[in-house]
Amino acid sequence: MAAGIDDIGIYIPRLYIDAADFAKARGVDPAKLVKGLGISQMAMVDTNQDPACLAANACLRVMKKNNLSPDDIGRLYVSTESAFDESKAMNSYVIGMLEQVYGSDSFEHCGGVETKFACVSGSYALYDNANWIRAGEAEGKNALVVVSDIAKYDLGSSGELTQGAGAIAMLLNDNPRLLSFDSKVTATSIKDEYDFYRPFGKETPIVHGQYSNLLYLIQVKTALMAYKKKALAQGIIKLKEGESILDYIDYICMHLPYSNMGKKALAYLVRHEWRGLPRWKKIIEKIGMEEPVPKDPRGTIESVLGDTEFMSKDHEFTKLFTKTEEFQDVYESKIASSLIGSTMIGNLYTASLYLGFRSSLEFEFQKGIDLEGKRYGFGSYGSGSSAMVFSGIIQPGYKEVIKDMNLETEIGPRKKLSLEEYEEIHENKRSRTDNILDGKEEFVLVDIKTIPEQRGERRYHFNG
Ligand code: COA
Repeated sequence: MAAGIDDIGIYIPRLYIDAADFAKARGVDPAKLVKGLGISQMAMVDTNQDPACLAANACLRVMKKNNLSPDDIGRLYVSTESAFDESKAMNSYVIGMLEQVYGSDSFEHCGGVETKFACVSGSYALYDNANWIRAGEAEGKNALVVVSDIAKYDLGSSGELTQGAGAIAMLLNDNPRLLSFDSKVTATSIKDEYDFYRPFGKETPIVHGQYSNLLYLIQVKTALMAYKKKALAQGIIKLKEGESILDYIDYICMHLPYSNMGKKALAYLVRHEWRGLPRWKKIIEKIGMEEPVPKDPRGTIESVLGDTEFMSKDHEFTKLFTKTEEFQDVYESKIASSLIGSTMIGNLYTASLYLGFRSSLEFEFQKGIDLEGKRYGFGSYGSGSSAMVFSGIIQPGYKEVIKDMNLETEIGPRKKLSLEEYEEIHENKRSRTDNILDGKEEFVLVDIKTIPEQRGERRYHFNG
């Protein structure tokens, strides 16, 4: 039985900080954000928004767009790393909000959990729900998998340059109009690591940025190698002499803590895949230098990062490689469109990969390309750490779903925050009722109880 993504709903808070202004305020060269990291704007939540209401807003949008009733939904999963309760799952809050619109107990029949594994958990949730559908357990119902996060880092930290907020709700069923997952090829890798984590009670993560970037590349590469084995064994991809698996993946979406990480990851994977092929010789000739090797090729991530001579040579090699016509072709045709959304919105943790997919669909469709039958490959990464690589094929009904996709219209009129406003919200100095924007047709957070017997209980309101 087929299973895949039928439609996508998106909710991005309309407040934002301008990356160039923000860089100046932090004494950083604006070119580092705009060119170095690929960030133009970062979406920020208002005082009356939390990850649960972002998730509910994304769900409501996809349900309304498709005229769905709660009876059509059999499962509702929320994947997040911005949880605010150690026990009560975020999807229960979302159900509560949706029932304000659809009637109390209207989702009573529905099941689901909150999933956690940094930025990769949404991909595990998609996989588990696709298998629920494949197993015939869905009995004609849809699953909603919602990825929702607020990427918030300490003021003045290097992570502060890579923030953002938003939610994406994916509607899954057995006759998807958009993307049908390739079966029996999903591949994972996992390792106990401390590259990025958020201990209990802490609002912002502890991040080892450069370590995390390298670990991301290694983990996704490991998962890609496992995917390759499975794809060849399943016969969905057949390689001739001198070909790479990437030649058969039309579009690639990567986890995007910031937009340029997509390019970095693509370069790393392409280098790995092409290294043993005849085409590599020509590329090395063009680059004019041999590919650098660390002093200890079997060393740890720390030893590679500490090998400053290798790191600097490798940086130089990557820069030259990404300028070659061969890489530029792959970059422009397979990944560039997926990076636009991230540039406009910033880091969405669990939702970053899917914002990339959403962005690729919109901007490739605008180019007039016929996407039917094209294969999308996904490289998902979550710190801590695990990667998942999987793929799917664009379905004949895709045009109906994506013809009206427009990120700018779907975000709505945005408001730029001053540095003062941003810092007040960031440091929770502004009261919840002192919100900057009044949204229509959306859920907002109105209260968090403080009396001991109700501590932490949240109340939401639908602004109709
Ligand atoms: N003009 C143009 N580019 C510039 C520049 C300037 N003035 N200054 C720096 N850059 C470029 C750098 O060359 C680099 O590009 P490259 O990677 O292609 O070489 C990029 O900007 C970033 O610079 P870097 O020195 O690496 O930045 P940093 O040490 O501040 O760290 C992050 C950047 C992304 C690692 C950091 O912001 C971070 O940790 N963010 C959180 C990421 C995260 O959450 N990861 C975990 C989940 S995956």
